[in-house]
Amino acid sequence: MGYEYINFKKEDGAVGILTINRPRALNALNWDTLKDLGNFVENDLSKENLRVLIITGEGDKAFVAGADIAQMSEMSSSDFREYVDYAHKIYDLIENNPCPSIAAVNGYALGGGCELALACDIRIASEKAKLGFPEVKLGIFPGWGGSQRITRIMGNAKAKELIYTGEMISAEEALRSGLVERVVPHEAIMKEAMELAGAIAKRAPLAVSAAKEAINTGSEMDLQSALDLEKTLIISCFDTDDRTEGMKAFLEKRNPVFKGK
Ligand code: CAA
Repeated sequence: MGYEYINFKKEDGAVGILTINRPRALNALNWDTLKDLGNFVENDLSKENLRVLIITGEGDKAFVAGADIAQMSEMSSSDFREYVDYAHKIYDLIENNPCPSIAAVNGYALGGGCELALACDIRIASEKAKLGFPEVKLGIFPGWGGSQRITRIMGNAKAKELIYTGEMISAEEALRSGLVERVVPHEAIMKEAMELAGAIAKRAPLAVSAAKEAINTGSEMDLQSALDLEKTLIISCFDTDDRTEGMKAFLEKRNPVFKGK
């Protein structure tokens, strides 16, 4: 694959681990790092046939410490627009990819790093992690999807408190406000992420993807339209080989073997 700033490996045949690899800058997403992430998501992710993608950060200190401040400070307005546009495109592709994703937040998840975690479906944090949006300290605000995705998770008022102050919160506080789903001992984070990924990977992949689409797309619709979408999606699941296998396996009292067909 030949990437400099991300590592990718496949475990147990179906779980991908993508590591943002720029630890000397706490995995901050400068252009090259963001491009590596983007090229992987655009060109390689679908070829890997994953059932779950885990995203994490290299080293012991950071998931991703945000956009690259040194690089941003040198950008023209049009450079900055391109940087923002590209990050939006890639985070949208992660959020809407049929493959479910888990952010293993192993340290600082700040600004664009917290926004990357928010583009994933589920977030597990190390007890040492610190999360937040320091952007207003820099004269900007969370603009790689953060101001929109976070409000949908924790509500406007709590999100405003976090964004207006720019203060970091602990993993425990993030758990209480719904920003992460689990907090685990630091050294256990990848084990926990792999166990969760393994549990999802055992299930019928087309059904999991359909559920993801129903939740992501449906939650932005009025209730009746969302219920109609749900009906369409469950009916499409019914016509899969995996549905036949899942129901047959139940009746034969054995574990199903799903093929994603
Ligand atoms: N951009 C560029 N470099 C960064 C960086 C970032 N976001 N975060 C950390 N680094 C670099 C530091 O400059 C430092 O480099 P040098 O060793 O060359 O000086 C190295 O990473 C280690 O960082 P620190 O020495 O600062 O480590 P620390 O433990 O003292 O502090 C920290 C850790 C609290 C996370 C601190 O690094 C920090 O505040 N980083 C900035 C976080 C931030 O503001 N993120 C938001 C960016 S804006 C954004 O993301 C916009 C958006 O909406 C997308």
